[in-house]
Parts: sequence; structure tokens; C-alpha cells
Amino acid sequence: MTAGVQTLYPKPLKSNGLVESYKDYCPTHIIPEKTINNEINSMIKLIESKPGFNKNLKFDPLKHIIFNDEYYKSTKTFTLDDLEIEKTHIKPLNNFGATFPFKLLSEEAIDMLIWEALTTIDTNGRLPNLATNATRLDFHIGCNFKKSKFTNDLAKSEILSNIVSNFVGYKLKPVWESDLVHINCSLATNDPIELNKFPKDQNEIEKILKLQDACDGQDIPSTLGVHYDSISIPLVIMLDLPNEAQGGQTTILTGKNTVTRVPDPPRGSGTLIQGRVLRHLASKPVTNHNRISFVISYATGVDGELDNCVTTSLKPSVLPKNEFNKFYKDWTEYKFLKLESHLKKIREQIVDDYEQGKGFDQELFVEKCLKIEKYFHGIYEEMECVENKPYPPPYFNTPYNEL
Ligand SMILES: [Fe+2]
Repeated sequence: MTAGVQTLYPKPLKSNGLVESYKDYCPTHIIPEKTINNEINSMIKLIESKPGFNKNLKFDPLKHIIFNDEYYKSTKTFTLDDLEIEKTHIKPLNNFGATFPFKLLSEEAIDMLIWEALTTIDTNGRLPNLATNATRLDFHIGCNFKKSKFTNDLAKSEILSNIVSNFVGYKLKPVWESDLVHINCSLATNDPIELNKFPKDQNEIEKILKLQDACDGQDIPSTLGVHYDSISIPLVIMLDLPNEAQGGQTTILTGKNTVTRVPDPPRGSGTLIQGRVLRHLASKPVTNHNRISFVISYATGVDGELDNCVTTSLKPSVLPKNEFNKFYKDWTEYKFLKLESHLKKIREQIVDDYEQGKGFDQELFVEKCLKIEKYFHGIYEEMECVENKPYPPPYFNTPYNEL
């Protein structure tokens, strides 16, 4: 049944890259017992055994955020021009492209974030839907961090929002709860048979990395293939990537359709990209090492402005870690609140202008109404009861200059 709309795609089909059991929280994508019993449980034990580890640690921005204002100057950034991107599928916020890694979180904060994430795995972790060469050790965590107080407080921190807004040059705030935090895990195996599949020496490693760098990104092993983000700006914080790991960086597709890797992010460092307009992927290390990245999603839409977020790569039939009922409750609440404050701002402006003797600008009003109509349509147009187009959409794989 579709909601009164004629469509070629009334149902989410596996053959179209979608998860059919999305309404039941994707039981087909639960993390295997073997992964929980071996790798995940040993990581939890390791953290708990660290001297001074405290399950009830409270987030303290002064102690846990180790950012220094100097980093605004010393961190290398790419503009869209630097990446030779001229055409984009939606209007960019500005010329901001990406940043190299900058120091952000303390060791204590990192351990706590990993611990809180891994201890919610039963209810909060799912295997990815579409991933290149994913194994039982590649999974996503996120959707409900209500009980993870430290994670929640850190992700909503005003200080982090300001750091992100300052780097990007645009006012940003965290998004709705289901997608506030998204954790990408690729864990090292402790199974000797699986270990055999990894390259044996430096020569072999370099050969693989070289091959990856020469391609257009489609074949690079990752837990999320080449994509655009559905939110404005992700702050990607590396929680685990040992120094000896090779590969595993955020990889951006440039305007020349080549790949640029953001250099090895050390543990606790953050990077930013304008994910809504940059094609990118999170590659897996080619060596047998953990890669755990912690993503906080930020959006435009501050102070009565409308945000530019969509659900394309987040909706439950695409991203199994998002639970249907909670995701759509969060999404519609968020969008309606944005709409309410936007309508209020426009209404007050109209009354104000009139009272100041400026009259009524009809053209401007209609222009604003058209924008609101488009925004309103965007709230429901991708819902599964309306449309289930194949994923990924064709534009994810279209070079920028052909957009
Ligand atoms: Fe992304």
C-alpha cells in the first residue's frame, strides 16, 4: 500500500538494496554472537580493567575536550575549490570542504565512549546494509543513547557545536536523537583462520593501498560505500585506530574523480567534511586492526532557518541501526520544530515590516512559501509508505561534473 502516490517502487526490496524487515528493527542484521562473545566482550573487559575506569564518569567539557583555539589556525583545511569541485548536487553552505585531523578528546573520554557504545550493542548495534567487503566484524551502533549519559552529554555539548561552527564558518547544531551519534566499527579479528586473509608484509599492504588510490572509490572496502551524508556536517572522531594500522582513513572523491585520503587521524582527533555535498567513504584498514569512528551529526537550521537534512541514507530500510518507530518520531519532531520556528520568524517579520511602514513584499512572501512547501514535502517524500527507490540513488555514483 502506498500513501496515495503512484510509484514504481511500492515496497522496499532486497534486490533494490533495501532492508525488507525495517519495521521490525532488522532482525536480519543483528550482530553475530561470535563477534559479541569474542571481540566485543574482550574490548569491554580491557577497558573495565584500566586503572581508574569509572562506569559512572560524568562528562566534563573542561577535562574531556582538549581542543585549543590555536587549532583553528594550525589545522589544514580543504575548500571545495582545493578539491576541484565545481558542481554539487545541492547548494553548498559555503566553500568549506574538509579539515585535516585536530586534537579533540582526552583518553578518558575515548574509553568511556567506546565502553558506552559496546555495552548497548544488543539494542543499538546492527550490521550495515550495503557495504563493500564487510564481515561479521563491521557494524554500526546508534539510534538510542538515552541511557548512555556520558555519550549524550558529550554529543550535545555547546563547546563542540561552537568548534564545528567555527571551522565550517556556518552556525550548526546537533540533529535529532536517532542520528545524533553514529558509530562505525571495524574490529580486528581474533580468529586465526580469518587472520589469514590479511596481507602478510609491507609490500602486499602497499600494493593494496596503491590499487585503492588509483580507483574511483567504488571498490575500496568500507562499511559504507561511496555516499553523500544526509545531514549537513558530520564531526568524525577517531576512537580507535592503532598507529600501526594502514588504510582506514576518510576518503573523499575529488572533482577530478580521484580519491583524497584525509591523513591518519590519531586516537581522539576529529575531522570535518561538508558531507552533504562531498562524495566520500570510510575505508577499512587493510591490516588487521580496529577502526572505531564516532560521528556526531550537525545541521544547519539554527535561529529560525530551515535545515538541509534528508533521510536518504538514514531511513530504516537503508540503515538497519535506525529503529523505525523511534527514527520517525525523532525525525518528524525535529522537522516540525524547525518549521514552527521558521514560520514564527516569517510571521513576526511580516508584522514588523508593516508596522515600520515597509508594507508587504508579496514576491518575497511567495518565494518563502515555495521554500516551505519544498521543505514540507521533503519531510515525507522518502518515507517507505510513499517511495522505495533503489539504493544507492544514481547521483551517489555520478561524478560531480556530470551532475
Ligand atoms: Fe558519510
